[in-house]
Amino acid sequence: MIAAMEDPLRSAPDVPFYLPAGKEIELCEHAHRCQLPLMLKGPTGCGKTRFVEHMAARLGRELITVSCNEDTSATDLLGRHLLQGGDTVWVDGPVTRAVRTGAILYLDEIAEARADAIVVIHSLADHRREIFLDRTGEKLSAAEGFSLIVSFNPGYQRSLRELKPSTRQRFAAIQFGYPDEAAEASIVVSESGTDEATAKKLVRIGTKIRQLTELSLMESVSTRLLIAAGKLISAGISPRLACVTAIAQPLSDDEEAVAAMRQVIEISI
Ligand SMILES: Nc1ncnc2c1ncn2[C@@H]1O[C@H](COP(=O)(O)OP(=O)(O)OP(=O)(O)O)[C@@H](O)[C@H]1O
Ligand SMILES: [Mg+2]
Repeated sequence: MIAAMEDPLRSAPDVPFYLPAGKEIELCEHAHRCQLPLMLKGPTGCGKTRFVEHMAARLGRELITVSCNEDTSATDLLGRHLLQGGDTVWVDGPVTRAVRTGAILYLDEIAEARADAIVVIHSLADHRREIFLDRTGEKLSAAEGFSLIVSFNPGYQRSLRELKPSTRQRFAAIQFGYPDEAAEASIVVSESGTDEATAKKLVRIGTKIRQLTELSLMESVSTRLLIAAGKLISAGISPRLACVTAIAQPLSDDEEAVAAMRQVIEISI
């Protein structure tokens, strides 16, 4: 509550709730002002997307998000000619729309996109701040207020995709991680509607499982999973079943690993 009073925007009704772990809000505001593109690094479910939603609302800009995958091409980002009632019309893609309107453009998991899509980003992410639509011959400079934010999860083992230095070095980068226990408990309370005592127990479970490095999980318990457990408990599911269902089972298919997590759950809640 004290934090909310210090920062009225954090609890404004039209600004998605985001509890900062450090100076990321100030850094993002300055990056926006200085026209510096930003890279958010960190594991799944630690608040990167929520942070971007919060910042877009805070900066009063529209947010345009693209979830990149291995098929994401330059055409998907820039736009294409489509047939409409016998005519061929040009339809802007999300990057072109954001550039024209001065939106916040969030490219989620940028490393997954195809090489030709990443090339599009290069001219947008350096001093030029422009894109070239080769299909229409247009060169567009980013409108006032445009910002580029990308996310990158370096921990993914399933993906061997790395970003080239020439791509990485166009961005200022912020490392995201799991919040400290007190912050994480207050996030769990506000996002799941559970009481504080239960939220603290959930966060303890999260911390203990994160310490079980011998489980060899690809990524450990995210804040997202703790919130899911809190939601099930708030809905009336027994705390142990809620934790096994929302925390242990999503994290592993290995029976021993699930059993080890179940043990942590049973002594903690
Ligand atoms: N600092 C925070 N403040 C408020 N909510 C948070 C915070 N961190 C995490 N959350 C909550 O956790 C959920 C998951 O976070 P989010 O979707 O932003 O993760 P992410 O880092 O984008 O994950 P992914 O890499 O899988 O996309 C959010 O919906 C939000 O409820
Ligand atoms: Mg996300």
